[in-house]
Amino acid sequence: MNSIFLNHLEKLPYGAEEALNRLRVNIGFCGDRCKKIIITSSTPNEGKSFVSTNLWRMLAEAGLHTVLVDADMRKSVMRSRYQMVTGGRNPPGLVHFLAGQAELDDVLYHTNINNGYLLPTSYTVMNPAILLQTDRFTGMLDSLSRVFDYVLVDTPPLNSVADGDLIASQCDGALLVVRSGVTPRTLVGASLKQLERAGCELMGVVLNRVEAKNNPYYYKYSRYGYYSDYYSSDSKEAAKK
Ligand SMILES: Nc1ncnc2c1ncn2[C@@H]1O[C@H](COP(=O)(O)OP(=O)(O)OP(=O)(O)O)[C@@H](O)[C@H]1O
Ligand SMILES: [Mg+2]
Repeated sequence: MNSIFLNHLEKLPYGAEEALNRLRVNIGFCGDRCKKIIITSSTPNEGKSFVSTNLWRMLAEAGLHTVLVDADMRKSVMRSRYQMVTGGRNPPGLVHFLAGQAELDDVLYHTNINNGYLLPTSYTVMNPAILLQTDRFTGMLDSLSRVFDYVLVDTPPLNSVADGDLIASQCDGALLVVRSGVTPRTLVGASLKQLERAGCELMGVVLNRVEAKNNPYYYKYSRYGYYSDYYSSDSKEAAKK
C-alpha cells in the first residue's frame, strides 16, 4: 500500500480537542451499525473538512482503524491544507478509482497517523455526480466498511450541489456541521429534510466555531468553542434545536 505523509496537522487548543473527543466518544455510542459516516453541512465553509480530519485523527489515535474519504471532488483542499507528501506528483485518488482507472488498493494510502488511512482526491472534476451514481462508489464504501471500523466521508455542502445527497444515500449516518451564528435556521432545517429523504440517519449536529464567550462550556484555556449535541433523527425536533 502507498503512503501519504500529512505534514501540517494543526495542534488544536484544549477546548477544541476536548469537544472533538466528546464527539468521538459519542460516535462510539451510536453502535456498530453506523460505520459509513458522511460529514456534511448546508453551506460552504462551515467546517466539514476541519471536523472530518480531526475526528478521523482522533478515532485513529484511539486505536480504531479509520479511513477518511475526501469526496469533495470539485475543490478538495486536503492536499494543500495538510501539505500532503506522496511518492508521485499526481498520485491516484478517488476520481481515478471511480472512473475505473485505478483499483481500490492503488488509491488507499496509509498515513503518519497510526490506524489512519486516507482515500484522497488528487484530481478535481466538474461533475462528480455522474461518478457518484456508479456501482463502483457503492461497492467502494461497502468494501471499506468491511475492512475499517469507520469510514468518514468529507463532502461538498448539501445546499449547492447534488453530491452530498448521493453520498448520504450510501452512508449509514450523518454528522451535520452547523456554523454557529452564521448558518440560517431554515437552511439547517432544509438539510435535515434532505438527509431524511436520502434515507440517511442523523447521528448528530456539530455546532462549530462557537464564540468562546457565548459557549456555556467555555474552558478558560480554550481559544475556540465547540458544542456538539446528539439527538434522534426526528427532523422537526432537530430543526427546533
Ligand atoms: N472550529 C474551528 N476552529 C477554527 N478554525 C476552523 C474551525 N472550523 C473550521 N475552521 C477553519 O475555517 C475554514 C473553513 O473550514 P473547512 O474548510 O473545514 O470548511 P468546509 O465546510 O469544509 O468548507 P467547504 O464547503 O469549502 O468544503 C478553514 O480555514 C478551517 O481551518
Ligand atoms: Mg471542505
